[in-house]
Amino acid sequence: MSYKIITHEYDVVVVGAGGAGLRATLGMAAEGLNVACVTKVFPTRSHTVAAQGGVGAALGNMGDGDTWQYHMYDTVKGSDWLGDQDAIEYMCRHAKEAVIELEHFGVPFSRNEDGKIYQRAFGGHTIEQGKKMAKRACAAADRTGHAILHTLYQQCIKHKAEFYIEYIALDLLMEDGQCCGVVAWCLDDGSIHVFKSKIVVLATGGYGRAFFSCTSAHTCTGDGNAMVLRAGLPLEDMEFIQFHPTGIYGSGCLITEGARGEGGYLTNAAGERFMERYAPKARDLASRDVVSRAMTIEILEGRGVGEKKDHIYLHLHHIAPNTLHERLPGITETARIFAGVDVTKEPIPVLPTVHYNMGGIPTNYHGEVTIPDGPDAKKVVPGLMAIGEAACVSVHGANRLGTNSLLDLIVFGRAAAQRASALLKADSQKVNPGEGAINKILDRFDEIRHNNGTLKVGEARQNMQHTMQQHCAVFRTEDLLQQGLQKMTQQAQALRDLYVEDKSLIWNTNLVEALELHNLMAQSLVTLQSALSRKESRGAHARDDYPDRDDTNWMKHTYAWLGNENEVTLNYRAVNLKPLTDEVKSIPPQRRVY
Ligand code: FUM
Repeated sequence: MSYKIITHEYDVVVVGAGGAGLRATLGMAAEGLNVACVTKVFPTRSHTVAAQGGVGAALGNMGDGDTWQYHMYDTVKGSDWLGDQDAIEYMCRHAKEAVIELEHFGVPFSRNEDGKIYQRAFGGHTIEQGKKMAKRACAAADRTGHAILHTLYQQCIKHKAEFYIEYIALDLLMEDGQCCGVVAWCLDDGSIHVFKSKIVVLATGGYGRAFFSCTSAHTCTGDGNAMVLRAGLPLEDMEFIQFHPTGIYGSGCLITEGARGEGGYLTNAAGERFMERYAPKARDLASRDVVSRAMTIEILEGRGVGEKKDHIYLHLHHIAPNTLHERLPGITETARIFAGVDVTKEPIPVLPTVHYNMGGIPTNYHGEVTIPDGPDAKKVVPGLMAIGEAACVSVHGANRLGTNSLLDLIVFGRAAAQRASALLKADSQKVNPGEGAINKILDRFDEIRHNNGTLKVGEARQNMQHTMQQHCAVFRTEDLLQQGLQKMTQQAQALRDLYVEDKSLIWNTNLVEALELHNLMAQSLVTLQSALSRKESRGAHARDDYPDRDDTNWMKHTYAWLGNENEVTLNYRAVNLKPLTDEVKSIPPQRRVY
């Protein structure tokens, strides 16, 4: 093993340049911290660019009398009472200022007739605890993520933030339980970079690509989550995976929930608007887990559409063409390209598709990574933060409401910048990583790079994706999950026989995919074990064999550790039902009715 190693020193290194990573980098650069952002794709190609419908904030611009307290109630209810209420209060309370800040940064939001930010309806967002639908999603047509990402990158450049682009983060540098940097591989020239820092912020996104059909970009492989597992730390609530009701049948491309927010509706083979049966009040705008399950039941009971009766129709043809043109131009084009459909005349064939990971790296609402410390407490891991979809704060609990993801990115990206700044001002001690820690990371990299078995990376990835799709989907049972875990354990062991054909270091996509596969596999294992062990149905985790929510035994967060032999160890922490301040009361568990 002989690598060209370049060493850098920063106060903070942010890994990932999606909405959360950029918001944190911007905040830190503006505070005058010495910050670098390390990213495997060019920042404006990060997956946030694909977010469509809007960012949730109770601005009340559409005259509906919205408040952050209503938003908080909906988020707790949407989470099926698995969300921590201190963190949810923090997010909803700070939503307005975070969005207005985006407007001031230059995000080109759509406008209502008064010239204020346009807001549309989205699933599960209501006024006065379910009395009527709220218009809370602040939208830039149906390209909100695109608008936010580009604006944040421009602001980062303005504040002279430093970027290391097309660098693959390999692993965290840990010394005595403290994070002191990260090692990355530069695709452009094949060099290895040791980033020493007082704080590392993981903003590496979700791991949708563990599944065969998902709305996530091919880059969504949860690299930060896997680095955390390899550092001997746990991931939280990994069993909770959101299926978006309207992925295009076949390609999985997202059709925004904003389409239903603008009046779109779903039908089955009989042309019936079946959501009226499942959610009489909210109908097509019930929360995503409810709509995804209803669609799956319609298909399983033989009422799906198409030759194979295996999907559902989404109708937009009744919406005025100028509304489609102004408010939904992106999905009009996506439907034409990926489904061959003219939405002004025909329905779009859709199917629930993996969209979001509620679970991830456990943090507090400042973005600091935590580990459980007794049955209902947690303690901070020094030097390590996580934000965005990579993190589990937990504001989404068992099911995320649409638009709360973009909100999570900007609120906690901002919070992390504030926290890092405060921590660094109070104490600027840097821990130096030892040679041993660096060599261990390079040995692993070398081993994967020189793997000379017989199993092709693409084949192994497909096996994993099909196993997740078949054994960890919308409806789950003990048998299905048990079989899935057995298969996945064998598939993880089979990675010893991987064949990495290309041994070069410059733009070696074969090696990148092998590293990503290892990352996805680790997350698949902890996901299956966490799902197998949770014997109840809650939010996106629907167990056919345990159909009810069980608050007596299961109102707790799962923590999962992965051992060297791929064995998963679990522990739990009680949900925090206590809000952040005395200004709001705790929202006690109720049955969810939509
Ligand atoms: O449907 C959508 O536009 C997705 C939004 C979200 O996941 O928050």
